Amino acid sequence: MTKFTINGSAGISEIMVGESFKNFREYLPGGQTVIITDENVNKIYSRFFNDFPTIIIGSGEKIKTLATVNNIYSQLMKLLADRSTFIVGIGGGIVCDVAGFVASTYLRGIRFGFVPTTLLAQVDASVGGKNGVNYKGFKNIIGTFNQPEFVICDTEVLHSLPGIELSNGFAEIVKHTLIADDTMFSYLENSFEKALNLDNEVISKLVAHSIRIKSGIVNRDEKESGERRLLNFGHTFGHAIEKISGISHGQAVSLGMVIAARLSQNLGYLSFEETERIKNLLLHLKLPVKGDFNHEKLIKAILKDKKRTAERIALILLTKIGEAKVEDILIDELRKMLTPTKD
Ligand code: GLY
Repeated sequence: MTKFTINGSAGISEIMVGESFKNFREYLPGGQTVIITDENVNKIYSRFFNDFPTIIIGSGEKIKTLATVNNIYSQLMKLLADRSTFIVGIGGGIVCDVAGFVASTYLRGIRFGFVPTTLLAQVDASVGGKNGVNYKGFKNIIGTFNQPEFVICDTEVLHSLPGIELSNGFAEIVKHTLIADDTMFSYLENSFEKALNLDNEVISKLVAHSIRIKSGIVNRDEKESGERRLLNFGHTFGHAIEKISGISHGQAVSLGMVIAARLSQNLGYLSFEETERIKNLLLHLKLPVKGDFNHEKLIKAILKDKKRTAERIALILLTKIGEAKVEDILIDELRKMLTPTKD
């Protein structure tokens, strides 16, 4: 097992890669525990937690709302949950985001942990302490920073995922290598087949390394005032694409990273060869690199992004594979840069 620690302002988070899902109860403090999960995860894994009261939510981005949160608050009240109640979110990114938000706000905050069951949730959504919901078309606009006490990443559970779910996670793994580690990028170039086949050694190394990168950044900048913004690489475009096209988060982030890499190349930071290497790796991981979407709609959706100020938008660009920077770009410039080209 490999362990990482995040020293958050409100508490410490222990992230364990290689710990077994079944052992999650060893990390519970005693007293009442309530599970929050979704229908799919409940169907596959309820045998691991069916002795605990369980709140089941639906699935899909559309349920990441205050209405879902309200519903969970009501159920917690019916269960007489109090300050000593511990919440465990078991599921993918949406479960982690919602469960973390509920735990951070119910009774002004109760203790919680996660068992992420998707690759995306293991390498990204369960780690870092950001939680929250969408509101009036804005993604993640309501939420808190609050670290889960534990995160158990059992790579065995990844075998039950459909291919699209794995690709979603690989997009975030590629993102982590692009902003922080060219050696891991090369490793992934050489081992993508084994990664797709969930070879235990390769996938464990990728999950652990991704979490090493993310937890390191979060430890240095928990509240996203500087370095943590790099983790948004590909996401300003990705979120906008996800919204206008309805494709999955990972696929949208893949397209977003290609657009951001192209912009980095156009601005003279990244070489053509590096952009091609990025596209090839994404293709190898069964992620899209070219989308057919309406650019006007894309720009409108980007302008709804919460990271935008009046005339400028903060974009994450690559200076090389393994290194990124934040640059404020004029919205007008961005509009010009996004004008479709032929390739
Ligand atoms: N919970 C995801 C993050 O903090 O980035």
